Amino acid sequence: MSNNSGDRRSRLYRKPHCVAAAVRRIHGVVADNLDNSSAVAIKRVQELAGEFGKNSFRQVDLRDRSALEKFFSEIKFDAVIHFAGLKAVVMASHGCKNLVFSSSATVYGWPKEVPCTEETPLAAVNPYGRTKLFIEEICRGVHRSDPEWKIILLRYFNPVGAHPSGHIGEDPRGIPNNLMPFVQQVAVGRRPALTVFGNDYSTKDGTGVRDYIHVVDLADGHIAALRKLSDPNSTAVIGCEVYNLGTGKGTSVLEMVTAFEKASGKKIPIVAGRRPGDAESCMLQKGGAGIELEGKYGIEEMCRDQWNWASKNPYGYGSPESN
Ligand code: UD1
Repeated sequence: MSNNSGDRRSRLYRKPHCVAAAVRRIHGVVADNLDNSSAVAIKRVQELAGEFGKNSFRQVDLRDRSALEKFFSEIKFDAVIHFAGLKAVVMASHGCKNLVFSSSATVYGWPKEVPCTEETPLAAVNPYGRTKLFIEEICRGVHRSDPEWKIILLRYFNPVGAHPSGHIGEDPRGIPNNLMPFVQQVAVGRRPALTVFGNDYSTKDGTGVRDYIHVVDLADGHIAALRKLSDPNSTAVIGCEVYNLGTGKGTSVLEMVTAFEKASGKKIPIVAGRRPGDAESCMLQKGGAGIELEGKYGIEEMCRDQWNWASKNPYGYGSPESN
């Protein structure tokens, strides 16, 4: 597992949750160059992993080939979860050809038809989406050139919530772009009101609809993918496969705000606004390709855990001075 990703949100949020699950449950070891990461987050992940946390982190920059070689020589890996620039060359030379790549539903652009299946046409509407599309394409190429490679591309929808311990959670720098980190900052008094982007869509209450998935379920999806790749008893032929990760349930902005108000006991003032190029609805088709993942958590738990994290860490991993 590694850093160097272009997406700050995944560095500070999705990755710690996936890493915490991998270290604790399958004794994963993390390589990260600590560029734009929080040392506090790493410490907390190690604490959550208990005994397995002790030797679970190496500061390695993926661009440092010899450091990466050393890392792969010291530890025999069965598979890699990839959050960063492709390191297929080093992996193959150490006999590890199982890869899980964290992609995103952003590769569907703003889909013309919802729900999305894995076959929904791909389109990049921003640079972040373009990098995900390119890396997916590189993964397909790696598999085509050497069919021994088994690769799972996970396209996830909107991760929200936090680790139920309240130890790790979302901590964006600056003004949050995404809904729930903004809501949590309003709840702790760091911002006066949430701007609701659009109230005249043809959705249940006029506001945008998304497929929110608890970040812990998202992390479980990564573990399920790894197990699928490494299962010696599996008869399934895995090439380079795509799985959507979400719940298949659409929730509007106002429904999300109401659920968060209930979980937190805080009033979230709202004002109206618009984000250019925003999508009306985006969610996945239930019963798609599926990976053995039954999402455990609903909107109520997502908001409960988001608030648990926010109330214990109103300034994330930092302090009022560092924000
Ligand atoms: C965002 C990302 C996308 C990423 C996805 C999942 C952008 C432009 N897109 O899209 O690349 O794959 O998250 O992580 O960042 N909303 C408000 N007020 C706000 C913020 C959001 O009303 O201050 C609304 C939006 O209009 C939308 C919903 O909340 O209806 C969710 O927005 P957001 O959290 O930004 O996710 P996406 O738009 O799905």
